[in-house]
Amino acid sequence: MADLSVNFAGIRAPNPFWVASGPPSNTAYQTHRAFEAGWGGLIWKTIGTPIVNVSSRYSALDIGGQRMVGFNNIELISDRSPEVNFQEIAEVKKRWPNHAVIASLMCESREQWHEFIRRSEDAGADGIELNYGCPHGMCERGMGSAVGQQPLVAERITGWVMEVAKIPVIVKLTPNITDITAAARAAKRAGANAISLINTINSITNVNLDTFASEPSVRGMSSHGGYCGPAVKPIALNMVQSCAADPEVRMPISGIGGISNWRDAAEFMAFGAGTVQVCTAIMHHGFRIVDDMIEGLNSYLDEKKMCSVDDLCGRAVANVTTWEKLDLNFRQVARVNHDTCIGCNLCYIACEDGAHQCIDLLNPDSLGLDLGPGRVPHKHVPKVREDDCVGCNLCTLVCPVDRCITMVEVPTGKPPMTWVEYQAKVASGEMKPLPPHH
Ligand SMILES: Cc1cc2nc3c(=O)[nH]c(=O)nc-3n(C[C@H](O)[C@H](O)[C@H](O)COP(=O)(O)O)c2cc1C
Ligand code: SF4
Ligand code: SF4
Repeated sequence: MADLSVNFAGIRAPNPFWVASGPPSNTAYQTHRAFEAGWGGLIWKTIGTPIVNVSSRYSALDIGGQRMVGFNNIELISDRSPEVNFQEIAEVKKRWPNHAVIASLMCESREQWHEFIRRSEDAGADGIELNYGCPHGMCERGMGSAVGQQPLVAERITGWVMEVAKIPVIVKLTPNITDITAAARAAKRAGANAISLINTINSITNVNLDTFASEPSVRGMSSHGGYCGPAVKPIALNMVQSCAADPEVRMPISGIGGISNWRDAAEFMAFGAGTVQVCTAIMHHGFRIVDDMIEGLNSYLDEKKMCSVDDLCGRAVANVTTWEKLDLNFRQVARVNHDTCIGCNLCYIACEDGAHQCIDLLNPDSLGLDLGPGRVPHKHVPKVREDDCVGCNLCTLVCPVDRCITMVEVPTGKPPMTWVEYQAKVASGEMKPLPPHH
């Protein structure tokens, strides 16, 4: 069995599954429940000058039958006093000395940062996470993403923190920025010990077409919120990979954004996350989901003969590159398995209207297909004209039957050549420009 324990920037925990700062990490009571359920660490709901919240606060994007594919909130940081929060952190640390408890902080001045860092340390917190990412409410007061969106300001404030912090400092990054690596580099330059990402993405989930109000509605009015949940995972993965691949960042990463199960978590780890944090999935399903995460990651690591999270961490980073370094001479085409095809023609329509018009609908007899006993005969079956197929993947993505359409490599007989190499060859006269696709 693999060893799931982690040492993240000097913070030790029994496993890499941590509760992200948010409603599930608001109180000692919830933290006890989280650790009893199996979570290895928790980032306390952001502590600062206590705020006043509005009602209501949440809205969601449902797609088809799936609830909360995306989740939006206009909630601010903790509405409880710092005294109560620090006292509860101390209580939790006494009961759970081996679990990671991180104090998330958002402060208004250098003096307040210093004071809150000292109070976090006095309470026994294992680390501090700096919340520069809250996209609503706090930034209008010059905090949260107002700081995170300006790397130089974030660097300065992180510098204030590093002047006094004796425990590891994690800078939480906002995704509401053009280049996430600029923010990550600023954290590195300031001497932070780690980064975590992503916080929520600016969002409005809907407009009611009768009342013209958006949700969450506060007496008919709404506000720009923060988006999270399964829908944001691709955005978070993109940013985590970018930071992990940047030679000027090179620091421990805690991955956050749309993680709901062990696979999501393992993907973030493969992109360089040493720990992962979860908020929306806990709000949706409860702390119990960590059971499957632990079991799933354990089995996966065993199957891959990896001994620890470190063995997985970063394994996929180098497999993402810039477009100009991809091989222009690699070619694949779509191939349909007529034994499993149900004749729905979704691939045909997608290719015809949305791609390259290279699927023909043919009579099964003309292809000599015997659809076998018990199979519902269909009038037409799709057949890909491989010479015209550009291998875009669209038909495989719309096909409702698992692995019915597969992408198959077809040899081009040409050695690999990237766009960079192609341009160099054309410039030197070694090669003529390729003719445009017909
Ligand atoms: C209702 C709600 C409140 C949140 N409050 C905080 C907060 O106080 N501090 C913070 O750093 N992040 C906060 N977050 C952001 C989460 O920690 C996390 O970065 C984000 O939700 C993405 O993860 P997820 O997709 O697992 O939810 C909050 C998220 C939600 C949904
Ligand atoms: S891979 Fe793209 S171009 Fe080829 S058949 Fe499918 S949809 Fe058409
Ligand atoms: S989408 Fe899939 S199942 Fe439907 S016709 Fe195409 S190959 Fe067959």
